[in-house]
Amino acid sequence: MEIKENISLRKYNTFGIDVQAKYFASFDSIEQLQDILLLPNFQHESKLILGGGSNILFTKNVAALVLKNEISGIEVVEEDDQFVFLKAGAGIAWHELVKYCVHHQYAGVENLALIPGNVGASPMQNIGAYGVEVKEVFHSLEAIHINSKEKVVFTKSDCEFGYRESVFKHAQRNQFVITSVTYRLLKKPKYNIAYGAIAKELEVMGVQELSISSIAQAVINIRNSKLPNPESIGNAGSFFKNPELPKTQFDVLKMEFPDIVGYMNEMDKVKVAAGWLIEQCGWKGYRKGDAGCHDKQALVLVNFGHATGTEIHNLSEEIISTVTAKFGILLEREVNIF
Ligand code: EPU
Repeated sequence: MEIKENISLRKYNTFGIDVQAKYFASFDSIEQLQDILLLPNFQHESKLILGGGSNILFTKNVAALVLKNEISGIEVVEEDDQFVFLKAGAGIAWHELVKYCVHHQYAGVENLALIPGNVGASPMQNIGAYGVEVKEVFHSLEAIHINSKEKVVFTKSDCEFGYRESVFKHAQRNQFVITSVTYRLLKKPKYNIAYGAIAKELEVMGVQELSISSIAQAVINIRNSKLPNPESIGNAGSFFKNPELPKTQFDVLKMEFPDIVGYMNEMDKVKVAAGWLIEQCGWKGYRKGDAGCHDKQALVLVNFGHATGTEIHNLSEEIISTVTAKFGILLEREVNIF
């Protein structure tokens, strides 16, 4: 295994921010990871685990050992009449897993097609889109505890999933390296096309009979039409979470802003479209230097080329303060700031 020094992280984060890592190593197996964690010279070095780098904004150089997870492999570990239990290496690109499932007709992740990032980040973030969250198909995961180097299994309840939340963003933050995730997928699909845009796109596609692949394709088409591809424009998907408000607060806002977009969630709160709030404050399509707000989806901040993480962070601060001033709502970032 090779520990590199002072290397640029530009190609390791989808925002394309050019910061340096003091030390950098990749690993493609649990054993290799454990070996790195045991290296005497790095015992006291802080560590940053990188997957696809699709949910992080670097605002400074990383004075730590950056560990890039490249554990691969997809295998069926168990199946019965209803379910397939699929274990995937944390370093696999999420969309590769979706393609595998679509190809094998395993249902449950088709609405989550084309989400950037790796398998390992899927439970950390409880990734979600178009009416589905990964917690619905999550079965368990394996992780290595960074200090003890022991393997630990997390069940669904251990993960404490919430909206773009899990225990790995809170109590267990930076304590574990997720090495594999096991999903429980359906052999007989239960289609979820409740999200209006999907039904519309299926109609445009002329789909008569629903299938796992047609839903995945509809999602791919929708995402391609409004979300920038990180390969050409740096971004990390939604930069902010959609705020969840008590119904009473939403009703008051609705009187003043009748077009405000919100949906009741399962907690009896109203999830408000942050993209709408940001657009109303005039940010959609805004650009200052190379930092900007995407012109087709205001929730997505972008790096047009050489923006620094601080420039993007400053833009997010400005957005937060104008949204607070206009609507009295405090936006929370979804992206991790380093
Ligand atoms: N809207 C606007 N202006 C905008 C953007 C959105 O008015 O610039 C309004 C529109 O009314 C639109 C509604 O907001 O109908 C919802 O927009 P969209 O369907 O694009 O979804 P979103 O709520 O903005 C969330 C997720 C996305 C996910 C989509 C689809 C969060 C933070 N974001 O965005 O997830 O793809 O729903 O399910 O929950 C991500 O997490 O990185 C991500 C891209």
